[in-house]
Amino acid sequence: MAVNVVIMAAGKGTRMKSAHPKVLHKLAGRSLLQHVLDAAAGLHAARTIVITGHGADAVEQAFAGRGVGFVRQMPQLGTGHAIQQVVPALDDANPTTLILNGDVPLIRPETAQALAAACAGERLALLTVELLDATGYGRIVRRAGAVTGIVEHKDASAEQREIREVYTGIMAAPTAALKRWVMALENDNAQREYYLTDIVAMAVAEGVPVVTSTAADEAEVLGVNSPLQLADLERRYQRRCAETLMDAGVRLADPARFDQRGTLECGQDVEIDVNCVFEGLVKLGDGVRIGANCVIRDARIAAGAVIHPFTHVEGAEVGAGALVGPFARLRPGAVLGTEVHIGNFVEVKNSTLAAGAKANHLAYLGDTSVGERSNYGAGSITANYDGANKHRTVIGADVHVGSNCVLIAPVTIGNGATIGGGSTIAKDAPAGQLTVARAKQVTIAGWQRPKKAPKAG
Ligand code: UD1
Ligand code: MG
Repeated sequence: MAVNVVIMAAGKGTRMKSAHPKVLHKLAGRSLLQHVLDAAAGLHAARTIVITGHGADAVEQAFAGRGVGFVRQMPQLGTGHAIQQVVPALDDANPTTLILNGDVPLIRPETAQALAAACAGERLALLTVELLDATGYGRIVRRAGAVTGIVEHKDASAEQREIREVYTGIMAAPTAALKRWVMALENDNAQREYYLTDIVAMAVAEGVPVVTSTAADEAEVLGVNSPLQLADLERRYQRRCAETLMDAGVRLADPARFDQRGTLECGQDVEIDVNCVFEGLVKLGDGVRIGANCVIRDARIAAGAVIHPFTHVEGAEVGAGALVGPFARLRPGAVLGTEVHIGNFVEVKNSTLAAGAKANHLAYLGDTSVGERSNYGAGSITANYDGANKHRTVIGADVHVGSNCVLIAPVTIGNGATIGGGSTIAKDAPAGQLTVARAKQVTIAGWQRPKKAPKAG
C-alpha cells in the first residue's frame, strides 16, 4: 500500500551548540537525516517530505536531487504545526503517512515497515517504548487497556507522570484523517505549542482504532540532542555492526574498539585488531588479518593478505597473500598483486605492482607499474610530477632498483635491469644490464682535514 513519509527536521538542536543543523551531524559517517532516509527506503514511499526550519538552506542543499521534497516550517510552533505545513503536499492517494524524526537515526527499516503495516490506511499506529525514566516524554494514557490519548510531560498530572509507556515521536496515520486532525489542533497547553500528539484523542473520539507497537530495542527510538547523546548512539550503532560481523564469524579483538562507517564485507576467518576504522565499501577476503590502528576506505583486500598496524588504505586493491605495513599508505589506484610486500613508510599511488613485487622501506611509487618479482629499494622514489603534468614510470619484471634512487618519469626500466643505488635515472634503462647514474667515487690522496686556527694572544 502506497505510503507518504514525512521526516520532521525543523528543530534547532540548541544543545548541540553547533553552527550546523542537528540533522546534518554525522553518525558512522552518515548524517542523522541520511540514516532516517535509509531506514525509510524499504517502504518505497510514493512521496518523502522533509520538514526543514532551522538551517533549512543547509539541509535542503545537502539532500538536493535525492528524490526528497522539502517543506519549510517558519517559525516552529510545535510538532502539530510542523505537520500542518505538509498538509498541501500530502497525497491522499497514499493512504498511509509515516512520520519519522530526523534526529532519531537508529530506527530499523523493519520497525518503520511494521508501523506502516499496522496503520494500513485505517488505524492510527503509535511507536511506543517503556522507559524507566520517562521524564520529558509524552505518556500513553490508556483506559481499560485501550489508548485514549497522549499527554505531554509538562501537561501531565503527578499520576500520569508515573506512566512508563511513552510515545517515541514516530507514528503512522491514515493520510486523509491526519490532514483533517492537524488542521483542527489548538495550542492551549503548557508550551503554547501545536502538539501532534493531540490527534490521538481526536482519533479516539472519531472511533478510529489506535494501535501501538513497541520498538524492539531502545536504541531505535533514542533521539540526538547533544554531543554526548550523539556519541552514545554512535557506540550503540557500532555495537550493532560489530555483533553482525561477529555473528558471521569475524573475530574482532574488541567490539568496543571498532568503527564501521559504511559497508564492510568479510570472508571466513577474518581477524581485526583494535582501533580500526572502515569507511565506504571495504571487502576483506578469507583469512585477511588487519592489525591495530588501521584506517581502510573503499578497498578490496584479497584472501590471506595481512595489513600490519598503523596502515592507511584508500581506494586500493590488495592481492592474495600480500603483506602491507606497518605504517604504509596505499592511495587511490594502488593495485597490488598476489604476495606483494609493501613495508614501513612506503607510499603507493595510482600504481600497479605485479605478483611478488616488493617495496619494503621508505619509498614512493606514483603512476608506476612494477613487473613481477621486482624489488624497489629503500628510499627510492618516482619523480612523477614535473610541476605541471604527471608522468608514468614503467618498471619491468625481475628488476632490482637499489636504495635511494630517483626515477624521473616518464621513464622505463627494462626487464631484469639493475639500477645502482643512489642513481638519478632520467633516461630509459635497458633490460638485463646494470645502470648507474651518480658521480663516480674518488679518493683524494694526501688530503688534509682543516684544523682550527690557534687562538690569538
Ligand atoms: C515529542 C512528542 C512527545 C514524545 C517525544 C519523543 C509532541 C508534542 N511531543 O516531544 O510526545 O515523547 O517527541 O522524543 O510531539 N519539530 C519540528 N517543528 C517544531 C517542533 C519540533 O520540526 O515546531 C521536530 C524536531 O526537530 C524533532 C521532532 O519534531 O525532530 C520532535 O520535536 P521535539 O521538540 O524534540 O519534541 P518533544 O518535545 O521532545
Ligand atoms: Mg519540544
